[in-house]
Amino acid sequence: MSPKLNVVILAAGKGSRMFSEKPKVLHELAGCSLVEHVIATAKNLNPENITLVVGHQADELKSHFADEEYNFVLQKEQKGTAHALQQALPFLNEEANAIVLYGDVPLTKTSSLEQLISLINDSTMAVLTSDVKEPEGLGRIIRNAEGDIECIVEEKDADQNQKIVREINTGIMAFPVKKLKQWLPKIKNNNAQNEFYLTDIVSLALEDKCQVKTSFCTEEYEAYGVNNMLQLAMLERIYQNERASQLMLKGVKICDPSRFDVRGDVDISSDVEIDINVILEGKVKIEKNVKIGANCILKNCTILQGSHIFPNTIIEDAYIGESCNIGPFARIRPGTELKDRAKIGNFVETKKSIIGQGSKVNHLSYVGDSELGEDVNIGAGTITCNYDGVNKFKTTIGNDVFIGSNSALVAPVVIGNGATVGAGSTITKDVKANQLALTRTKQNNINGWKRPSKKET
Ligand code: UD1
Ligand code: MG
Repeated sequence: MSPKLNVVILAAGKGSRMFSEKPKVLHELAGCSLVEHVIATAKNLNPENITLVVGHQADELKSHFADEEYNFVLQKEQKGTAHALQQALPFLNEEANAIVLYGDVPLTKTSSLEQLISLINDSTMAVLTSDVKEPEGLGRIIRNAEGDIECIVEEKDADQNQKIVREINTGIMAFPVKKLKQWLPKIKNNNAQNEFYLTDIVSLALEDKCQVKTSFCTEEYEAYGVNNMLQLAMLERIYQNERASQLMLKGVKICDPSRFDVRGDVDISSDVEIDINVILEGKVKIEKNVKIGANCILKNCTILQGSHIFPNTIIEDAYIGESCNIGPFARIRPGTELKDRAKIGNFVETKKSIIGQGSKVNHLSYVGDSELGEDVNIGAGTITCNYDGVNKFKTTIGNDVFIGSNSALVAPVVIGNGATVGAGSTITKDVKANQLALTRTKQNNINGWKRPSKKET
């Protein structure tokens, strides 16, 4: 059996180039903080434990993860990556292997980490490297004539020849903990930045007659860290392009992958069409032959096959049946359930309501805390008055009901099957099956009516 794995995530740095009051690693990429991306990848490795090294705004970071079972260690002063890792040593199991990840490097793939871990044994450590086009600012991998790694040189300590090297240290390393505990205390800070560089561990391991292996990450972006808002936006696009590519290769039609955003878990069938500027958040399930128009936001919802969501529609915590039409400009709020073939038109808001099969709310309405039967027609401008300023009440509408335009249904109220409500009515009492309810006064036409004239002053 391979040894257990302990994960250490370094996240004590200040992130001053973000110019933000929020800790850098709590800035979000695809709706989830940078460090949560790293933790999610770490969890894929089934580690025995995860230790976060925190420093700047440590309390804010800790409270962000209040419910989670991670070890937190405080690095009071940021004296370098080796110093940071040293703070975590008391939490590391002597019999285990350890991998060091960075809280601000969110897109490393699990497979790259697995590959790295597979290289180490009792007397071997490993470094994840990458070939990048622009190595400026990063530690360079220096190899000997045989091609074996000799050391890592930081940009600030590198000479001209070393600066040309494009193979860089991602910062991600794996070691047997027993060895790590021997090597780390030996690291000194006699370098350009007077910091304790974790990268110096390579030379120490070689001096100790241990092997240092390297493996490449498959994609260059796996090594990218976030230091400023520009890099954050770049990584966001890379991530989104990846997500869009995965979906497109499974038959989802995305009109423009550069204008598509996923911030959560999505399950989208083939033959779904998604127009530009669509945001999918949380858990979203979309069945085949669904069309999503431009500028829609879909959050925590299920949309069954054949439904069309027209442009500028927002759907949240809702369930949409088969062959429904929604929008344009509709807002489907939490707790809405549309049965098959229901229609919600423009400028309609629904909340905590069931809209029965084939029922229509086509224009300018608010339907909240309501239950509609089948084949109901709600006229333009109808409002369910569900709130008396203190409590919420329910509106129940049977099958085949017709509500005339501009009606107010004052809840609690029940409208029976087949009932009709005349346009402009304010319904405060239940309407029985097949009744017509009218509350407006009769129209009175007066002949020769003179409008008031302006008084002389
Ligand atoms: C480091 C590496 C460099 C590598 C680069 C990859 C060293 C000396 N250099 O440089 O070879 O190419 O990452 O991005 O390791 N941190 C702490 N405490 C500290 C210092 C840093 O927790 O005292 C954390 C930071 O929050 C960050 C990570 O360690 O998550 C990396 O620190 P950073 O200062 O960005 O290191 P680089 O100079 O980029
Ligand atoms: Mg960095």
